[in-house]
Amino acid sequence: MVLLAAAAAAQSAKDQIAQGRALFEHHCGRCHRPGGDGPELTRDALAPKGTALGLFDFVRANMPHDAPGTLKEQEYWDIVAHVLAAAGVVRAGPPVGPDTAAGIRLPE
Ligand code: HEC
Repeated sequence: MVLLAAAAAAQSAKDQIAQGRALFEHHCGRCHRPGGDGPELTRDALAPKGTALGLFDFVRANMPHDAPGTLKEQEYWDIVAHVLAAAGVVRAGPPVGPDTAAGIRLPE
């Protein structure tokens, strides 16, 4: 049962990252791609946010830059999961959300 639960969690984390990638392309990508108005979201750029929770709080309060706070809470979590995966911080762990985010540290 433990193995099954772990497999289910890994699967849903993968789905969350894929979902977050699509949302990111739609809501964030035009600025956060090379040559856009926003900085590239590398590991080093993200590190000062401390944890996934810090990143979530920043993104929800400030992004999209021209329309902060306009997405649903779950959409922000999915986007954060994608941003962390793209920066190599998370892989197939548990989904990124209110229960896990404080424990996901952003490496310096
Ligand atoms: C209209 C352009 C624009 C859009 C759309 C946008 N951003 Fe930004 N973003 C910026 C700019 C400009 C900055 C740098 C200024 C700042 O930090 O407020 C920034 C900064 C950031 C930072 C901090 C990076 C750092 O180096 O400190 C993160 C994380 C971020 N954006 C994530 C997102 C996410 C996630 C979305 C989509 C929900 C998004 N942004 C949409 C323009 C944008």
